[in-house]
Amino acid sequence: APASVPRVSALRGRVALVTGAARGIGAATAERLAQEGARVVLLDVPALQEALGATAARVGGEALALDVTAPDAPARLVEELKGRHGGVDVVVHNAGITRDRTLAKMTPEAWDQVLAVNLAAIVAADDALLASGALRDEGRLVYLSSISGVAGNFGQTNYAATKAALIGYVAALAPRLAPRGICANAVAPGFIETAMVAKMPLMTREVGRRLNSLSQGGLPRDVAELITFLGSPGAYGLTGNTVRACGQGLI
Ligand code: NAI
Repeated sequence: APASVPRVSALRGRVALVTGAARGIGAATAERLAQEGARVVLLDVPALQEALGATAARVGGEALALDVTAPDAPARLVEELKGRHGGVDVVVHNAGITRDRTLAKMTPEAWDQVLAVNLAAIVAADDALLASGALRDEGRLVYLSSISGVAGNFGQTNYAATKAALIGYVAALAPRLAPRGICANAVAPGFIETAMVAKMPLMTREVGRRLNSLSQGGLPRDVAELITFLGSPGAYGLTGNTVRACGQGLI
């Protein structure tokens, strides 16, 4: 927004968790949530501890080095969020990985890894946050689906399956949480310029950019803006949805 437009601190006093926040969409989201006044816990793998610490310091949040697939991750999250912060209001399940292979080369390991990070770890974390009461009433859950989960994508049978799963997950979860005022929504970005897509072949990246009606890749902050809205009190009327954020209206 132009600098002259005053910002409303919609998230003052709220606690937010962003997984996969060392870089990319997660880092941009943590930054926007902090700008809205949230106390932000930025989580990422111990291997990225340095980058995570730098991002957390820049954003003014707290770093939590934790692999979401670790067996004790759900308990650690409860301990951190309920124990240290008294609860959590906004959870952004952003951590995700690709293990792209053509169908002929797809391996069981590539399936297992992608299912573990992109789906199983999310469900386990949610179960723990709900069962422990760490997630407060009026809470906001936001999930990173993908255009790949809506339309599929070459070499991504495993990834597309997990991203489609989240669309069904929020739809089924939302009515269960509505009595507590909790909203659960997913966002489905198209091609966003991050480290995740930088390792794709050049041709794949070009196709990704051109599928966007703006003929360019999206930016992490574009998605962060939408996630921040879905994480705010004002999004109380939206739940169970998957919002496409990709400029790919025709898919
Ligand atoms: P990225 O690779 O730049 O960032 C993902 C972060 O998640 C990394 O910092 C990584 O260390 C972290 N992470 C991975 N496994 C983890 C684990 N086991 N525990 C904790 N943290 C872990 O990727 P990007 O592009 O920022 O993606 C963020 C999310 O957005 C992902 O879920 C991705 O699938 C989704 N997405 C990305 C799109 C894109 O074009 N970049 C398009 C659609 C969805």
